[in-house]
Amino acid sequence: MKAPANVKQSIDFLRQICKISALKSQMCGIFGYVGSRSDAGQLVVNGLKNLEYRGYDSWGVAQKHGSTVAVTKDTGKISSVNAEDFSEECGLAIAHTRWATHGGVTQQNAHPHLNSNSTIAVVHNGIIENYQELRNELMAKGHVFLSETDTEIIPHMIEEELRQTDDFASAVRNACHRFTGRYGILAFHTESNTLVATRTGSPLIVGVGDHGYFIASDIPAFMEHTKVVQYLDDGEMVVTDGQSILFTDLETGEEHPKREIEITWSVEEAQKGEYAHFMLKEIMEQKDSIARAVNQDEQQIQVIADAIRNAQGTFLVGCGTAHKACMAAEYFFSVVSGHHVNVTSAGEFKVHHHFLKPDSLLIVVSQSGETADVLEAMSIAKAKGAKVLAIVNVEGSTIDREADYTLLINAGPERAVASTKALTGQMAVLMMIAYAMVEKLHEGKTLLLNTVSMINDMLNPRYIALLEEVAEEIQHHEDLYIIGKSWNYPMALESAIKIQEVSYIHAEGFASSELKHGPIALIEEETPCIALVGNDEVTPDIISNTIELKARGARTIGIAPKNNEAFDTWIKVPDAGAAQAIVNIIPIQVLAYFLAVKRGKDPDMPRNLAKSVTVK
Ligand code: G6P
Repeated sequence: MKAPANVKQSIDFLRQICKISALKSQMCGIFGYVGSRSDAGQLVVNGLKNLEYRGYDSWGVAQKHGSTVAVTKDTGKISSVNAEDFSEECGLAIAHTRWATHGGVTQQNAHPHLNSNSTIAVVHNGIIENYQELRNELMAKGHVFLSETDTEIIPHMIEEELRQTDDFASAVRNACHRFTGRYGILAFHTESNTLVATRTGSPLIVGVGDHGYFIASDIPAFMEHTKVVQYLDDGEMVVTDGQSILFTDLETGEEHPKREIEITWSVEEAQKGEYAHFMLKEIMEQKDSIARAVNQDEQQIQVIADAIRNAQGTFLVGCGTAHKACMAAEYFFSVVSGHHVNVTSAGEFKVHHHFLKPDSLLIVVSQSGETADVLEAMSIAKAKGAKVLAIVNVEGSTIDREADYTLLINAGPERAVASTKALTGQMAVLMMIAYAMVEKLHEGKTLLLNTVSMINDMLNPRYIALLEEVAEEIQHHEDLYIIGKSWNYPMALESAIKIQEVSYIHAEGFASSELKHGPIALIEEETPCIALVGNDEVTPDIISNTIELKARGARTIGIAPKNNEAFDTWIKVPDAGAAQAIVNIIPIQVLAYFLAVKRGKDPDMPRNLAKSVTVK
């Protein structure tokens, strides 16, 4: 076949040379079971504990006991709940971890929610945008609401629809036709032994067990019971009585056949093992996860590189940490390949849509593959006829499935809210593409694999203990600044995110050259300032900026391959050349982790944050 001449041909070509991703997925907060097991309550409580890392503020369970519903819900952590308390015989139960959006963090607002006579139980992720209007309509008909949530209208609306039909699934379908917004819903009715789920926007995955079906927003909920899954797509509904299952179009009711897929993660990969926290485990795993990211089909990387070269404008977008990977890539493409790419935070992409052409390429970067702002950027690009390449960790996630082509970084499950190994995997993949653009893929790959082995040496117990000591020394400071230049500048921004989100220290990252244009006014005696340094042509500049900080009384910490008198404390990192950004962020991740632990915070579940942000 002739070499692809434009982005569209490249994507077609990619689809031919590499098999299209199997359908797999993950997300947050919902779990249900129906089947012949009699411990459904206990089972869903334990499943919720496996979804904890997503970030939530309250939890709840509804169990079907004969023709009644038993609801238990509360604010706080599911980890302190004893699953044995849910041991009453039960074959159908739904459960939820809630992250407050509509209505405060109260027991009343926690899911599940029920209808007027407590015969319908519902859990829900996402937002029903027209809930106020529907609530008014239902109140006019006499419905009484007990919570401030948008969710509570769902069981009441289903109740209304049940006046027109005896079939519960049809009532759920008809109710959903009234809702606007993005949601994933699980519902059951005391009159039938059926679990019904619908999805528009919030992921739901079915686990096919030997003794029934599981439906969850994320695979770890049921991974200890089954690794065989079926994915619910947007605009679909699934109905199961525990023995058989039916997928249909939510709109038309037409049947949708589904494949069963076996997931490849092991249960161990999704567990903490010997580590006290997932965050530390995931940081330490980077010696393997980066190597897995690098181990891509070379022809595929080359075709993507050519597609970027041929595109009429390449745009890179992501959110949070993934956005910082995009920013680092802007430097990789500039320095390594001499090619300009346009980088924006996905939430800002809308403003730039004028520059998209049918031959433009949008590259979206995401760990979870579910981030709402990224999905919106993809729709904007598609509407303009542009192609979308996704660089994601979670196979089968919405972004994976909606992209024209996906490159998986294969980091394995990332469970701590703060992203670590996904970032370095994303950067490694983007760096390889940058090298491939100038026909130097092998050089890039060798550099990255050497970097992996240096990271392996670096992450030894003595090194970790040194970082713990530094954390001990600076833990009581409430302000901390990080400077970087070139590709270390996005890493300074990422360092600030890492430290903020887990330790709650006010941390800010700057381009070192910007210091004297404002931030240096913040420096006081002993203010901790971290300089991210490489061994390249910008090193003298950032060293001189670090000296300026020291002269103003800052306590300087240099993360650098070589020591310098500018540093009060030196944290040695290997000299990784163009891959320095990948190396330099790792000690910061460890430092952030210890700052959190020493300040008594849970690094895996920072306050107010969620692993997947599925709302705009
Ligand atoms: C949330 C997470 C961050 C993540 C960001 C983007 O804010 O807490 O860790 O970087 O979303 O998520 P994504 O899954 O798209 O990479």
